[in-house]
Amino acid sequence: MCGIVGYVGQKQALEVVVAGLRRLEYRGYDSAGVAVISEGVLEVRKRAGKLANLEELLGADPLPQSTTGIGHTRWATHGGPTDHNAHPHVSEDTRIAVIHNGIIENFAELRDELRAAGVQLTSETDTEVAAHMLAREVPIVDGDLPEAMRRVCRRLEGAFTLVALDREQPDLVVAARRNSPLVVGVGEGENFLASDVAAFVEHTRHALELGQDQVVVLTPDDITVTDFAGEPVEVRPFTVDWDASAAEKGGYDLFMLKEIAEQPKAVADALRGRISKDHRIQLDETDLDESVLRSITKVVVIACGTAAHAGMVAKYAIEHWTRLPVEVELASEFRYRDPIVGPDSLVIAISQSGETMDTLMALRHAKEQGARTLAICNTVGSTIPRESDAVLYTYAGPEIAVASTKAFLTQIIAAYLVGLYLAQVRGLMFEDEIRAVLDELDEMPSKVDLVLDTTEHVRELARELADSTSVLFLGRHVGFPVALEGALKLKELAYMHAEGFPAGELKHGPIALIEEGVPVIVIVPSPRGRAVLHDKIVSNIQEVRARGALVIAIAEEGDEAIAPFADHIVRVPAVPTLMQPLVSTVPLQVFACEMATAKGHDVDQPRNLAKSVTVE
Ligand code: G6P
Repeated sequence: MCGIVGYVGQKQALEVVVAGLRRLEYRGYDSAGVAVISEGVLEVRKRAGKLANLEELLGADPLPQSTTGIGHTRWATHGGPTDHNAHPHVSEDTRIAVIHNGIIENFAELRDELRAAGVQLTSETDTEVAAHMLAREVPIVDGDLPEAMRRVCRRLEGAFTLVALDREQPDLVVAARRNSPLVVGVGEGENFLASDVAAFVEHTRHALELGQDQVVVLTPDDITVTDFAGEPVEVRPFTVDWDASAAEKGGYDLFMLKEIAEQPKAVADALRGRISKDHRIQLDETDLDESVLRSITKVVVIACGTAAHAGMVAKYAIEHWTRLPVEVELASEFRYRDPIVGPDSLVIAISQSGETMDTLMALRHAKEQGARTLAICNTVGSTIPRESDAVLYTYAGPEIAVASTKAFLTQIIAAYLVGLYLAQVRGLMFEDEIRAVLDELDEMPSKVDLVLDTTEHVRELARELADSTSVLFLGRHVGFPVALEGALKLKELAYMHAEGFPAGELKHGPIALIEEGVPVIVIVPSPRGRAVLHDKIVSNIQEVRARGALVIAIAEEGDEAIAPFADHIVRVPAVPTLMQPLVSTVPLQVFACEMATAKGHDVDQPRNLAKSVTVE
C-alpha cells in the first residue's frame, strides 16, 4: 500500500513519475503527489483522491521542467485522505521533500521531540516527522543527504520506504527501506526506484533487489547501496521477465476483465517447466530440500484474503495426497496465538504481492520457531520469497486490479504442485497416480478457457440481481473455500453483504438470514466425485429454497439431477473434484465484476482497499 516512484536522469521527471504512479495506483488511491527540483527550488503538487485529481491540478498549475522527481500514491494510515496529508511532505525550510510507504511506529515520540524543538507540524501524518528530521540532520552532516537518511532511519521504528529530495542537490534521489517494498530500475544515464517494477518497466527491465535496512543513492549515472551504518552492501540484480504491455489493459475496459481472461495462460505458465517428460514433478528451482520434505510432520499455510482461500483449497488436496496434516491460518492471527510450529513443520506463505505485512510477520515468527519455510508468490524479488528458505513463483504476470483473480488460480496450482511433490518425495503415491493428477492439471488451461466462453448467463444474472442487499454462497469440500472467495469478491467490488458458508453449517445459524428472494449461489460438487456430497448439497438447497431463497447453482455440464432444485444453473466443465475450484471460481469472479459495474463502482480500484497491504 502506497506507491512510490523516483527518477533521476535526462527525461522530464514529471512524465516518468506520473506514468509510474498510474501503474502503481492499485497500491492506494486516497491521494497523489509529486515533487521536482527546478532551479534550486522544490516544487510540490498534491491532491486528495485519485491520480486524475492530481493530473487536473498539474494541468491548471503546471510544474517547471526538471529531470529529478518523486511521486506518491497514498493509502491512508495516519491522517485522513486530505490534500494536507497527501505526500510529499516538505521540511519547514522547504529544503527536503519526503514520500513514505509504511508506518513509523514511534512517530508520536518523534513528533513530540520535534515540537519541543520548535518545529511546526502541519499534517496528521507520521511521514512528516521524517521530512523535518532529515532537514535537521542534513546541515549536521555537511549536506550529506545519504548520511542524514541513515541517521534518521536508525531512529525510526516500524515499516518504511522513504524517498527524499534535497533542493540543494538536484541530481540526487535518496531512499531507504525497512519492511516495505522498494526496487531500483537501472537505466543508461538515468535510474529509477519504485515500490514495484511496473512503475519503470517501460524504461528498463534491469532491476536491483534491495535488502532490509538499506539506503540507496541514485544519480543519473550511479547507484550506491549501503546499510544503515553506511557499510556498502551487495544487491542482487534481476531482469523483469515481462514487458510494459503486460501491465496495460490490452483492449479490455478493466484490468480485472483482462486478468480474468488471462487465467488459462496464467495456469499454463504456473505449470510450465515443472513437470518432466517422464511425468515427475520437478521443483529444483525452489531449493526445496528433499530431506526436509521427508522429515516434516505437518504443513502450515499462512496467508491473507484470496491467498488464504487458495491455501484452504490446497489443504484438501495436500492432506489427501500426503496424509500430512495441513493447517491454514490467517496470517494476521498466526503469530499472536502461540502457534505450534517448529523444525518439523513446513510453513507455506502464499502471497501474490510478496509484501503483505501480516504474512511477512507470520513468516518471520515461523522462522524464529525453526520452521522450514516456502513462499508461493507472484512477484519476483519481493520480500516474502526473499525471506523464505524456498520459493515457488506462480508466474501469473502482473496483477493490477485490486481484487485478485489469476493469482488465486495459480496459487492453487502451485500449492498442488507442492503437495504432489511432497507425495513424490515421500513415496506416498504410485507414479501412475501422480501422473493421473498431472494429466488433469494439464487439462486445466483449456477447461478454464471453456468457462470464459460461457459467461454471458452469469453476467445477465449479475445485472438482474444488482439491487439485492445480500448474497450468500454455499459450498462443500473444496467448494467451501470457493464460496468464501465468491463472497469476498462481491464484498470487495459490489460493497454488498455477502457471506460464504459450508453448506452443512447453514442449519446451525446462517439459515436465519434466508428470506424471500435472497440470492444463494451454490457451488455444486460433481455427482461423479463423491456422490454423497452432491446429495447432501441438494438437501441444503432444498432447505434454503423452502425458505424463499433464489438458488443459482454452479454445476458441471451433464449434472441434470440438479435442474429441479435450482432457479438458475451456471454450467462449468466437468472436471475431477480437486480441480473444481479452478473452474467454479471463474463465474464468481465474473459475477462480482459485472455486478460492481452495474452498480457503477470502480472495479479496479474499490473503495478503502489496496492491493498490497504493507501495514499490520
Ligand atoms: C489485500 C488484497 C487482496 C489479497 C490480500 C492478500 O487484502 O486486497 O486481494 O488477497 O491483500 O494479498 P497478497 O499479495 O498477500 O496475496
